[in-house]
Amino acid sequence: MILTHIVACSENHVIGTQGGLPWDLPEDMKFFKDTTKGHIMIMGRKTFDSFNGRALPNRYHIVITRDPSKQKFESTEKSPVVYVASLEEAVAHAKPLTEKWGEEVFIIGGGEIYKQAIEKKLTDKIYLTLIHREFPGDTYYPQIDQNVFKLTQRRDVELPIPFSFLTYMKK
Ligand SMILES: NC(=O)c1ccc[n+]([C@@H]2O[C@H](COP(=O)([O-])OP(=O)(O)OC[C@H]3O[C@@H](n4cnc5c(N)ncnc54)[C@H](OP(=O)(O)O)[C@@H]3O)[C@@H](O)[C@H]2O)c1
Repeated sequence: MILTHIVACSENHVIGTQGGLPWDLPEDMKFFKDTTKGHIMIMGRKTFDSFNGRALPNRYHIVITRDPSKQKFESTEKSPVVYVASLEEAVAHAKPLTEKWGEEVFIIGGGEIYKQAIEKKLTDKIYLTLIHREFPGDTYYPQIDQNVFKLTQRRDVELPIPFSFLTYMKK
């Protein structure tokens, strides 16, 4: 299993504001959709709520919440949704499913879950869309430790605002 963060962040580390994204970047949204299609996605309950009650098609959703019993979401065969009580439980739940849903398991946020995944060393790879602007916000992505992760790929985009698709691998 490869645990991969997929995240878009500004130069001042902002990833979210008031429960949503601070920007509208269709090319990055397409990258997110193309990359996660057919895979397992692990996320915090607030990030799942930001989907406005819709699970994404052809993805297996594992939602982390302190009270999994409270959560009721209609799961379908194409878009399963399960609730678990911790990041460790999410990873354990994903493990036997990778044969069907792919070895690469995506940690898709938000700020609380990315931070815990880094601290608990549950991160092998990071797809970081770095937006070369500062944005106001209330949710942040941690500083990437260059002693732990190595930049392996970079593609720059200029429009509608300059940003870069970066790939980091654990050393
Ligand atoms: N730019 C990006 O790439 C990106 C990606 C994802 C999200 N976002 C943005 O980030 C924001 C959401 O991030 P966030 O940090 O506020 O929330 P989050 O990480 O999505 O979810 C936080 C919730 O996860 C659960 N949780 C966290 N730690 C837990 C633990 N140790 N055990 C059990 N449950 C735990 C809790 O759910 P309960 O309250 O239910 O207990 C907590 O309230 C939004 O603005 C979203 O749009 C941005």
